[in-house]
Amino acid sequence: MTDATEPLSPRLGAVILAAGQGTRMRSQLPKVLHPLAGQPMIVYVLEAAEAAGAGDLVVVVGPGADQVRAVLGTRARYATQEVPLGTGHAVLQAYPLLAPACERLLVLYGDTPLLTADSLRTLLAASREATIALLTAEVDAPQAYGRIVRDAAGRVLRVVEEVDAAGAERGIREVNVGAYVFDTAWLGAHLPQLRPSRSGEYYLTDLVALAAAEGQAIATVPLADPVEGLGVNDRCQLARAEAVLRGRVRERLMRAGVTLIDPASTFVDATVEVGVDTVLYPHTFLQGRTRVGARCEIGPSTQLVDTEVGDACRIVWSVLEGAVLSENVQVGPFAHLRPGARLARGVVIGNYAEVKNSILHEDVQQHHFSYIGDAEVGRGTNIGAGTITCNYDGQQKHRTEIGPEVFLGSDTLLVAPVRLGARSGTGAGAVVVRDVPEGKLAVGVPARILRDRVVPEAGAAAAPRVPEGPPPASPVKGGEGDA
Ligand code: UD1
Ligand code: MG
Repeated sequence: MTDATEPLSPRLGAVILAAGQGTRMRSQLPKVLHPLAGQPMIVYVLEAAEAAGAGDLVVVVGPGADQVRAVLGTRARYATQEVPLGTGHAVLQAYPLLAPACERLLVLYGDTPLLTADSLRTLLAASREATIALLTAEVDAPQAYGRIVRDAAGRVLRVVEEVDAAGAERGIREVNVGAYVFDTAWLGAHLPQLRPSRSGEYYLTDLVALAAAEGQAIATVPLADPVEGLGVNDRCQLARAEAVLRGRVRERLMRAGVTLIDPASTFVDATVEVGVDTVLYPHTFLQGRTRVGARCEIGPSTQLVDTEVGDACRIVWSVLEGAVLSENVQVGPFAHLRPGARLARGVVIGNYAEVKNSILHEDVQQHHFSYIGDAEVGRGTNIGAGTITCNYDGQQKHRTEIGPEVFLGSDTLLVAPVRLGARSGTGAGAVVVRDVPEGKLAVGVPARILRDRVVPEAGAAAAPRVPEGPPPASPVKGGEGDA
């Protein structure tokens, strides 16, 4: 077992290799940047190294270096390997940045995202008495991994790569995970001694044979859970890693007090946080920088991307991207909230409603078939079925401002830019092209101001009364009408 409280050496440096070509991925994206549970693969490796106590991190970058730097920023320093001449050659590029300040060097591969900080701590503990310590795993399908070759007494002799393995070596199921701790001085003296393999690459793993030949101490640490050793070289392994990481996230949430009705159909990115007593229904996707508060009900069939949700909200069968919801907000079914949608406490968004770049203040109701874009809607306003903010004139977007306690009749079209004053209203089918003053009722196409809006007593039906009969024959250009 690991002693997690043990003080870790400030003189521990880490090298993460990320300069390979990743040809087996068949991708234009650098392998180590492929997302797993919503986060680039290499971030898992970096975080495990940090959590294990590595104080100084150097990432070796090659093709796609700029993209890797853009993701990791100042969390690491960088060494460049211009030509991917192998893992040994890659470590050589980073070595001058860390030696001699670091006594020991942790070397990790950017394509082993399942390794946990606990396993690295165990490896570090074992490295104290060894020139090289390395993680190993017993696997059923050792192909694609280097095999650990031992002598009759069980001492490690070397690591043989799949392409070089012959005869009985191919049957060895103990494999090299690709996580090492080296004595820094010994590493510096021996990296230049590596010779190209048959493939022309300088294998880091050949250092094991050099150390064994010198009689140096080599410590092997078997992983308790071999899946941690999974190396991601192709899309099939990517999918396996994805499944494991998703499973870890689900478990973390459930242990933290979140109910997952059907964990297998609930997909939560590693970057997401969910509060206690929230229930996630099946077919729910929480992605990116999403934060969900406590006591919410999310789903079924709901996708939240980069969305903040306050406590006690309910969201069903909906898609939310870049939205911010306060407490007690209800959304759906079949609603779409787009970037910049900000919903205050008690807002209700119903069927087939869309909101973009708009602030809806407390208790706004927007129930059916409507679009609110580039708008601000005052507290307690009711947005009738089919209401549309016509915010785009074909060239520019324009804003709509709707005051508090406004009542918009069904099928109101608000031709922006336009303002509706507090407690104003519109009749069904109104096409509002001019501002509606406070307390007035606008009706018709285009809408004219008819008179004061009759605000019903609290608790009474909220619909404004629109006189029967045809709408005005000709538009009232002045806008103020007969108010
Ligand atoms: C490597 C190991 C193998 C081990 C396996 C575990 C070697 C020679 N082999 O094989 O023993 O079982 O990992 O997953 O080390 N990289 C560079 N520069 C290079 C080549 C690779 O930075 O010139 C980086 C890659 O980006 C990758 C890592 O090193 O992150 C490992 O390279 P990869 O080609 O995936 O090695 P494997 O064939 O998986
Ligand atoms: Mg690999």
